[in-house]
Amino acid sequence: MIAAAVAELRLGRVSYARKALLPVPGEKPSMNDLSRQAHWDDVYTTKGEKDVSWYQDSPAPSLELIALTGVSADAEIIDIGGGASRLVDNLLRKNFGRLTVLDLSAAALDAAKARLGERAAHVTWVVADVTTWQPSRTYDLWHDRAAFHFLTDQADQSAYVERLQQALKPAGFAIIGTFAADGPERCSGLPIVRYDAASLAARLGDDFELIDARRHEHTTPWGAVQRFQFATFRRH
Ligand SMILES: C[S@@+](CC[C@H](N)C(=O)[O-])C[C@H]1O[C@@H](n2cnc3c(N)ncnc32)[C@H](O)[C@@H]1O
Repeated sequence: MIAAAVAELRLGRVSYARKALLPVPGEKPSMNDLSRQAHWDDVYTTKGEKDVSWYQDSPAPSLELIALTGVSADAEIIDIGGGASRLVDNLLRKNFGRLTVLDLSAAALDAAKARLGERAAHVTWVVADVTTWQPSRTYDLWHDRAAFHFLTDQADQSAYVERLQQALKPAGFAIIGTFAADGPERCSGLPIVRYDAASLAARLGDDFELIDARRHEHTTPWGAVQRFQFATFRRH
């Protein structure tokens, strides 16, 4: 039965759900939408907010970078892979009124909504994999802390950049935080790609001008230090 399934996979006839479960022998497994979603839903349903390495009481580096762009309170802002981050709480407090949080884990967004209570109604919540998402509007500012770095396949990285190109307005800003070139090699038990500002700029391509780059040392809830690279780009 496994041999038959593998043959189907090689012929490209297998269903999406079965592809998630059946790696082809000899091929490097990659995470597609279904296995990614299962991983992240499991994380957000089995771990508390402070049991994950990326938890921050205050997303201070992101808030500072957003302030530096000078976008106004009526800017359309999207947090890609926002998970249960408190960035949205902080932006609401600063009177940003057109906020979207996108994540492939509904469980993550449910946790953020539960924390926000009735304030959650002022936010647009999108459950989607950023690599297959079809943006229905455009944004002035795209923020991503520690989602892009999970895309280890070139095809997924290109799909992400295509979405960025579709969704970001001309002269809009993209703030992307990843593990730094000398940061950890894995996050949430998954392999990631580490970047410095130059390699991130090269991956995004000529449409995006690098306007700010800074490193940040994030301390996990259990006291470990993780080196991040944050880069801000302006779309031509
Ligand atoms: C390390 S967590 C960071 C969460 C949040 N940005 C923060 O700073 O607290 C990575 C987040 O990216 C989401 N994610 C991972 N791959 C994704 C994808 N392909 N599309 C959308 N979200 C994704 C996960 O569900 C998770 O919430």
